[in-house]
Amino acid sequence: MARKKIALIGAGNIGGTLAHLAAQKELGDIVLFDVVEGVPQGKALDLSQCGPVEGFDAKITGTNDYKDIAGADVIIVTAGVARKPGMSRDDLLGINLKVMKAVGEGIAANAPDAFVICITNPLDAMVWALREFSGLPHNKVVGMAGVLDSARFSTFLAWEFGVSIRDVNTFVLGGHGDTMVPVVEYSTVNGIPVPDLVKMGLSTQERIDAIVQRTRSGGGEIVGLLKTGSAFYAPAASGIAMAEAYLNDQKRILPCAAYVSGEYGVEDLYVGVPVLIGANGVEKVIEIELDADAKAGLQVSVDAVKELLEACKGIDGSLA
Ligand code: APR
Repeated sequence: MARKKIALIGAGNIGGTLAHLAAQKELGDIVLFDVVEGVPQGKALDLSQCGPVEGFDAKITGTNDYKDIAGADVIIVTAGVARKPGMSRDDLLGINLKVMKAVGEGIAANAPDAFVICITNPLDAMVWALREFSGLPHNKVVGMAGVLDSARFSTFLAWEFGVSIRDVNTFVLGGHGDTMVPVVEYSTVNGIPVPDLVKMGLSTQERIDAIVQRTRSGGGEIVGLLKTGSAFYAPAASGIAMAEAYLNDQKRILPCAAYVSGEYGVEDLYVGVPVLIGANGVEKVIEIELDADAKAGLQVSVDAVKELLEACKGIDGSLA
């Protein structure tokens, strides 16, 4: 069987980290693409030279030519600009929408059979636009948000309860923004739901509420500390988990920004929901039962995503 090919569109902070992780895991050969000349080539050379030290065997190349992504099995898109302090993800809309158009056309022309994972923000709008511009099937284009948001939620809960991160399992739904919905009822420590742990006196509702809020603004907290850009280690790790689920037909259930048509009462929209990822891409949207609070939270999120899509259509008439 031929080696798998992973194309990374955008060779910035996340792109470089994705390439390193994909190489370490030997997911396949890696092509780093960027519009800036020299950067993908330089990073590819530097990363190739990690091989002898770390013991991985992966061919890593850098390019400014979309032709080099031909035949890619997985494409992870981080092209665009990242947030600076004081900016919301939505502030990136105008610039990154143009980038999605170029990337979507590049993918359609060169690698239309790939499984495409979008990370560029504002995520829910950009993954929708990328799908529209590329024309790929909805099940082959998905956004990375929920895996990262859940990882943030899990980290804070593990710290709160003083337990291993391995035992914490959490769920975050909705848009990748301030309206995301960390679902406390479905979040557990080794199967014990968080509300039960609160009843057992191991935390308080106030502290859990504060953790939910910190999760919602988890990206902004890092932007505020870094000052020159946004988070990249955990976003890259999350993108790789999704790529592995597809490449190895793992049938993992992961919260992703996926296309919904009817599930959760939502029509024709990309929003964060649990999905099953396997060799056919997004194989199923999992519809879990939500309490009234979570339902209302999801609706707020859906409305916020819809507003962004309207803004996209206003900027680029071909999307209307
Ligand atoms: N095509 C390809 N690459 C592009 C294009 C384009 N049209 N426009 C910009 N880029 C490249 C930049 O040259 C840069 O190398 O995208 C890269 C972005 O890298 P960073 O600025 O380091 O941003 P990063 O931290 O990797 O985040 C990328 O992911 O999480 C989101 O909000 C984040 O939208 C941002 C994206």
